[in-house]
Amino acid sequence: MTSSACLIVEDRAGVRVLTMNRPDKRNALNNELTHALLAALQAADRDASVKALVLAGAGKAFCAGADINEFGGFVNSGDSANAAQAALDRAHLTTNLHRVFSQIGKPVIGAAQGYAMGGGAGLALACDMLVAGDSLKLGYPELKHGIVAAIVMANLVRQVGRKTAFELVSMGEPVDAQRALSLGLANRVVADDALIDTAVGIAERLASFDAPAMAATKRLFHRVADLPLQQALDASLDTNMMMRSFRQDRAKQS
Ligand code: COA
Repeated sequence: MTSSACLIVEDRAGVRVLTMNRPDKRNALNNELTHALLAALQAADRDASVKALVLAGAGKAFCAGADINEFGGFVNSGDSANAAQAALDRAHLTTNLHRVFSQIGKPVIGAAQGYAMGGGAGLALACDMLVAGDSLKLGYPELKHGIVAAIVMANLVRQVGRKTAFELVSMGEPVDAQRALSLGLANRVVADDALIDTAVGIAERLASFDAPAMAATKRLFHRVADLPLQQALDASLDTNMMMRSFRQDRAKQS
């Protein structure tokens, strides 16, 4: 997997660091960056040398969300049929990006400093763990633009209580790093200049574990989070038996 202008891809042993690289636009998600990020996450999942990922943003901000100018360009193009198709394509692309975090078997550690807004907040929450730089401001300003925090709502409502989730999407006020930590939206708060090293350190630790066991842990985690208790216990039993026989098969082969 190679870097593109908008997404830097670096391998540090088993950890792949993806850095959104539109710092002048606060890493706003245009189609090019969104496609590149989706492809990079899928490629990392296929690459046996990658055991864990870090997602970061270059410059002052993690990510300012959807590229408002590009989106406005579709809508104001005067061609309503093409604009509708472009909006639909964009919505599917964004949904696929938010979906892929929970579909891939490798853990993704977010490293977020400065603004993480709208879709950028969504990316931070889509990561399996989040390290916040002390400058983090994470929020959902969509209503201020007359639009809805739609695709990002699914993860948000699963990660904080309903009252807090509603407050975040309705008031549009960002939370700082310490509040994100206290709400359980971040795992650690560190100084901005320690952000990448801390996230890579966590990713290296996860990368040191057995890859199939990590993938099974992540898959089960996402399944049980959304299932009623009895079905969640059944899914857990399935994984337990599957991993037991997997380990026995491997022991016989070695
Ligand atoms: N889409 C497109 N461009 C964006 C952007 C976005 N979501 N967010 C920032 N940019 C661009 C600005 O247009 C500006 O470009 P320019 O220098 O060519 O004029 C550049 O990034 C820097 O923005 P600026 O506002 O000067 O940076 P800041 O550090 O003072 O503030 C934000 C950062 C994120 C608080 C502010 O840019 C902002 O509120 N952006 C919109 C966030 C948003 O509403 N996201 C949800 C979209 S649905």
